[in-house]
Amino acid sequence: MTDDITAVIEPLPSRRTPRLRTPRAPRRSAATAAVPVAEPLAALEGRNISAWFGDHQVLDRVSLTMPAGVVTSLIGPSGCGKSTFLRILNRMHELVPSASLAGEVLLDGEDIYDPSRKLVEARKHIGMVFQKPNPFPAQSIYDNVIAGLKLTGTRASRDEKDELVESCLIKAGLWKEVKDRLRAPGAGLSGGQQQRLCIARSLAVKPRVLLMDEPCSALDPTSTRVIEETMLELAHEVTIVIVTHNMQQAQRVSQQCAFFLAAQGTPGAIVEHGDTEAMFHDPVDPRTFDYVNGRFG
Ligand SMILES: Nc1ncnc2c1ncn2[C@@H]1O[C@H](COP(=O)(O)OP(=O)(O)OP(=O)(O)O)[C@@H](O)[C@H]1O
Ligand SMILES: [Mg+2]
Repeated sequence: MTDDITAVIEPLPSRRTPRLRTPRAPRRSAATAAVPVAEPLAALEGRNISAWFGDHQVLDRVSLTMPAGVVTSLIGPSGCGKSTFLRILNRMHELVPSASLAGEVLLDGEDIYDPSRKLVEARKHIGMVFQKPNPFPAQSIYDNVIAGLKLTGTRASRDEKDELVESCLIKAGLWKEVKDRLRAPGAGLSGGQQQRLCIARSLAVKPRVLLMDEPCSALDPTSTRVIEETMLELAHEVTIVIVTHNMQQAQRVSQQCAFFLAAQGTPGAIVEHGDTEAMFHDPVDPRTFDYVNGRFG
């Protein structure tokens, strides 16, 4: 169960410089793509991921497989690199000008950083929900849900859009609350509702993986419960990775858990990962025991 990468001494990996590209208009073939159908569940694998901001290394050769259809939780003290790892999983790390990384991210066995693969493809297949809900405030609930279609150049008829909006809002556990006001602005919803709207928006492009960075940390217990229930439902059709500081939440929603730690002055690494129950009740590493029992962090 203990992650062996921390024990293996390997030569320092060569860094990749971020590939910042000027966004281009989608090609005709992409612009006329039809509404995607759901793809089979996919595993996501980070291999030897290292990350830097300038010269500051914040992750050191982190490897983790996030199996298909499983909810994986990432836990660990503040600043140990959980969000950085998550952002590397859908190519958002490279948006920071000083950022660089090494390693591979494999979606269903294919490296999303392969130069022949498009950035937009990675983001489409690997969605992200952030700590602070970020719906487009001036847009209606309806338009928020289908916003990703425009961004990915997907053509859809009115009926297809209606169907998509309804199914995504149902999956996100929001339909009943908003079905009579789909044309009202997204900003008019409560924080918990806005977060579920963001989940619905992510689902509309039919991602294979959904990354969630502390999605409930700004929410009340009731909204948190609804989102946790939503996650458990969604796990049947999308692989989920969630960062959380809430140990109960990690136990409630995830089947696999990874404990990140950055010892004083060193980059973050995974101390231990494995079955969530075992991590919380019978961890191998004493640092995991201390962390999950609230002794530090
Ligand atoms: N944009 C940035 N520029 C420079 N350094 C950064 C940037 N973002 C994060 N860092 C640094 O990278 C390290 C890891 O940060 P990260 O946000 O990944 O940690 P985290 O585990 O998600 O923490 P938290 O639990 O507080 O969210 C920290 O030392 C942080 O200061
Ligand atoms: Mg974070």
